[in-house]
Amino acid sequence: MTIDPDMPAHEDAVLRGVMHQYAEHLPVTDKTPIISLGEGDTPLVRSQSIERELGCDALYFKLESCNPTGSFKDRGMVVAVAKAMEEGAQAIMCASTGNTSASAAAYAGRYGLKCFVIVPDGNIARGKLAQSVVYGAEIIAIDGNFDAALRVAREITSKHPIALVNSVNPHRVEGQKTASFEIADALGDAPDVLALPVGNAGNITAYWRGFVQYHQMEHTSRRPMMLGFQAAGAAPLVDGAPIESPQTIASAIRVGNPASSASALAARDESGGAIAAVTDDEILAAYARLAREEGIFCEPASAACVAGVLRQKAEGRSFAGQTVVCIITGSGLKDPETALRTEPDVHRVPAELGAIEREMGWA
Ligand code: F0G
Repeated sequence: MTIDPDMPAHEDAVLRGVMHQYAEHLPVTDKTPIISLGEGDTPLVRSQSIERELGCDALYFKLESCNPTGSFKDRGMVVAVAKAMEEGAQAIMCASTGNTSASAAAYAGRYGLKCFVIVPDGNIARGKLAQSVVYGAEIIAIDGNFDAALRVAREITSKHPIALVNSVNPHRVEGQKTASFEIADALGDAPDVLALPVGNAGNITAYWRGFVQYHQMEHTSRRPMMLGFQAAGAAPLVDGAPIESPQTIASAIRVGNPASSASALAARDESGGAIAAVTDDEILAAYARLAREEGIFCEPASAACVAGVLRQKAEGRSFAGQTVVCIITGSGLKDPETALRTEPDVHRVPAELGAIEREMGWA
């Protein structure tokens, strides 16, 4: 393994990233540059409120929103970009509902690669679009959904010397599995239940791989039950067939034909878990509760896993005695439109002490 000689020695970040931390578990060779934007090592925060309703032993939120570009994608992207650099790529490409493109754009900018992102026109959250713009990616907006974008990205990268950095790139999944290691290390063992939102199904594949490997290496005594949640209007793995026009407010997981369906179903079955659907209303209710009761502002897709475990509880699943971890995959700041979709309850008053106190009810 080498530090790229052309790069300034950003030692702090390099010592912190997932490539440095987990090199022995990653496809790192003598020729792989160890690069980083400080991804990984995200907080595992205990629930203050929802845990009681779930009736579990402990509920934790893994704040993947604390990664450098605000989502879990950075863990896999750093490895995919390092491997692309090792292979001499000059350019990378991805299809995206917004987070993969933000992450790809950031690492490409930092390491001098050209970055093309293909997104569904008008259907990615503004914050994510802003990231790709400012990081300097070439943004190609298509008249089609994520599934169509991924189809063309695969075709273009098979024709041209451009590295595809979607989760169909095996290096992405390798990097993302490091989150399982962190959770197991923090808890001293694997949790009983791992809940996460499912879109293109790379992340559930990655978490399961990480937990299986850690268990094989005897770092844990068990493997968690995997609970994946899709939005009801975009739930091909629940319905058992691809969906032509997926619909949900959780635009990050508006995916009709997940590329990693087979490995997601394997994770479900091998772990004795489930992949189930939650409605947009349930997602928005969990999104609001996470913010108001837990202090966690996530994007709607992330709230799907919390909505999901609450629904399972309501339907009769007992979490008694169990440790549950919900993956908060992305930051709420990425999607201000959803946050402000209804007129916010703002008190408008003159800039004057008495008026403000009266409005507060503390006059
Ligand atoms: N949560 C967020 C915030 C996401 O952005 C995604 C996927 C998922 C969950 C689902 O993860 O696809 O591995 O099952 N976003 C992709 C993107 C599709 O293009 O950013 P998955």
